[in-house]
Amino acid sequence: MKNIVILISGSGSNMAAIVQAANQEDWQAKFNARIAAVISNKPDANGLILASAMGIETKRLNHFAFATREAFDAELMQEIDIYAPVLVVLAGFMRILTPGFVAHYTGRLVNIHPSLLPAFTGLNTHQRAIDAGCKLTGATVHLVTENLDIGPILAQTEVAILPSDTAKTLATRVQIAEHIIYPQAIAQLLAAM
Ligand code: GRF
Repeated sequence: MKNIVILISGSGSNMAAIVQAANQEDWQAKFNARIAAVISNKPDANGLILASAMGIETKRLNHFAFATREAFDAELMQEIDIYAPVLVVLAGFMRILTPGFVAHYTGRLVNIHPSLLPAFTGLNTHQRAIDAGCKLTGATVHLVTENLDIGPILAQTEVAILPSDTAKTLATRVQIAEHIIYPQAIAQLLAAM
């Protein structure tokens, strides 16, 4: 069985979309794959409740309990590696990862970013796209490399920016698009394994 581990910090809507796709499209039968666990660095992340309700094993690893970023990442790697995952999926995991962590999962660490990369890496992407007068934005699924939000692009989806948009309304529409492309991109990776 090919295991997938999903890392979250918040609401977990992308995680839920991936679990739903895995169930609906029967990834077990199709790819011999399953979502093995959801791990959050925030003990009170709402996504943990969602994941449990969907029957997925959850773990909490509070980063405040660790003296250094390296110590947290080392423990996180141990927790992840229990599942020997073929993919580690970042779904709103709001932590900068150490080079050692990224190197350990080279080629099997994926992320979704709420912009059309390489535009608007980093935070606050929607407000920055609106302020720049962009007519289009979107979301990007990419392999994670050492540099933040830069790495081989696996999938992108476009979302139009409307004159009436605020960062909040735009974020809502981008997330709806994310929930479609993220499961699709993961399914494509599994199909190629
Ligand atoms: C998404 O918009 C994703 O692009 C960004 O963080 C957000 C996570 O949302 N990396 P959710 O926790 O999946 O609802």
